[in-house]
Amino acid sequence: MINKILKKKNKEKIICLTAYSKNFASIIDEYCDIILVGDSMANVLYGMKYTHQVTLDMIIRHGQSARKGTKKSLLVIDMPKGTYDNVKDAIKNAKMILKKTKCDAVKIESNKKNFKIISGLVKSKIKVMGHIGFTPQFKKKFKVEGTTLNSKKKLISEAKKIEKAGAFSIVLECISRESAKEITQCLNIPTIGIGSSSYCDGQILVTDDLIGLSGFYPKFVKKYCDINRIVLQAVKRYRNDVKKKLFPSQNYSF
Ligand code: KIV
Repeated sequence: MINKILKKKNKEKIICLTAYSKNFASIIDEYCDIILVGDSMANVLYGMKYTHQVTLDMIIRHGQSARKGTKKSLLVIDMPKGTYDNVKDAIKNAKMILKKTKCDAVKIESNKKNFKIISGLVKSKIKVMGHIGFTPQFKKKFKVEGTTLNSKKKLISEAKKIEKAGAFSIVLECISRESAKEITQCLNIPTIGIGSSSYCDGQILVTDDLIGLSGFYPKFVKKYCDINRIVLQAVKRYRNDVKKKLFPSQNYSF
């Protein structure tokens, strides 16, 4: 499955979205190449302030749920902060995630130093997706990266080290167009952009943002529908029906 994704580089865009549950995964599966159980669930689902509040147990439970709805896409699961601080822990925890969720790969955020963690995982036959640019596990303040020559050079070097360590792809989060273009051109593995321009080999968005459920609309999010409005209309009609004793009618009772 990973080979199919690697072959898309320079040929066909790679489609990725997040899902934290069976229902969402089964809706998006048909049109995705990769489904990510992201630690963005902290903010999106749990209303937490930081992604580092996501635990191994939480990501595993949501991974198990998403697995049930993922039939054809590659299922990637984020390793929570603190679960890959050294090679030994990273391997132990990644193996646990893989065993309990039957996912295909894990994603780890780069702190610009943890390349040995990736190579350790890869040597243990674990498929790894990297993540550079804005990495919420390690940065408190949002900032677009790669806007200066120096920052671009650093990102290119970081991306190359992640590729060398054996990652099969790499998320570029909130990286300037020019830097994303150069990083994508100098790597053999696909880049998956979020807020990092159409130069990337693929794109990822948080599904809840795309459908208008999360209420989070930074510059890089395009809202493709307003699910809040649709749910609101349904709930209003339900309320009205109950008040007027139209629901449940005979059809809905025994
Ligand atoms: O946690 C997440 O959903 C992510 C994506 C935004 C790339 O890391």
